[in-house]
Amino acid sequence: MTNVTESHSRIESGRRPPPPHPLKAGDPIMDLKLAMLDAAMPAQSAMVFGDVWGVYGAYSQRCLDLGCENVYLVDSLQTPEFEQRLREQPNLHFVYGDFSNPQWMMDLDREAEIGVAFDVLLHQGPLTGAIHLILDHCQRAICISQPTLKERDLPNTVVYLPGNTAREELSPSYSHLDGGGTSEIHVFDPLQVNHGHWLWGMTRSFLESVLLGEGFEIVAEQRGPDLANPNWYLWGCVAERKRANPRHWSASHPRPTRAPDRPASERKP
Ligand SMILES: C[S@@+](CC[C@H](N)C(=O)[O-])C[C@H]1O[C@@H](n2cnc3c(N)ncnc32)[C@H](O)[C@@H]1O
Repeated sequence: MTNVTESHSRIESGRRPPPPHPLKAGDPIMDLKLAMLDAAMPAQSAMVFGDVWGVYGAYSQRCLDLGCENVYLVDSLQTPEFEQRLREQPNLHFVYGDFSNPQWMMDLDREAEIGVAFDVLLHQGPLTGAIHLILDHCQRAICISQPTLKERDLPNTVVYLPGNTAREELSPSYSHLDGGGTSEIHVFDPLQVNHGHWLWGMTRSFLESVLLGEGFEIVAEQRGPDLANPNWYLWGCVAERKRANPRHWSASHPRPTRAPDRPASERKP
């Protein structure tokens, strides 16, 4: 079983100035995410997937401010600013781990009324598996917001970015949104295939179809501005759990059998 409170004890106590609260009204990226949280509330509890890098738990804090009694933040990153916030918020619980890891997620014996996945799906190598594991911990709804690829010739397009040579078409530049600080987010290196990097371009239709297969329907959505590269735009939604899907791939449970013994000629010396 994954121990939720254990992570608190690993963080030393001590007094530091309060963490910066990086949520600024007027930033289109943050405004869209906050609008999705507002649309999903009220909720008793939230599980926020990936909320440390750059924001130090700010969206988890927002869930508490909007009335959640308990918020579980799942991330594989810790920073001093986030640790400070954690010390000050007894109802914010840190769960340290990789939410794309099926074994670890099966051991995570917590669920929350709503889930939050802001700018995290683009980073998951096992994409549909990670979406399933996330949704499995969301009782009523999920809030999603991320840069989204505009619809292509075929619906449900999802594009793998590492090693992709169509850089001009696909480079997801944020430069006009963040004041020109970042001209390109490095996404095309074929070897950087981990959740610290940007791996996928997803269309809205792809996400809608994956959510439907998981038994979730989009009930609210908002389109934000284009990125500097107009093939991308900001998009967010709230999807609600509507039905179980017994024909989902996770519902097939073939009985595991033992692998046959290896012939002597194939054994290691
Ligand atoms: C791009 S940041 C997004 C932060 C915040 N949600 C926001 O919208 O600004 C992605 C965050 O998710 C975390 N993350 C991504 N994939 C993860 C995974 N599979 N397991 C645990 N943490 C993950 C990263 O460590 C990071 O804190």
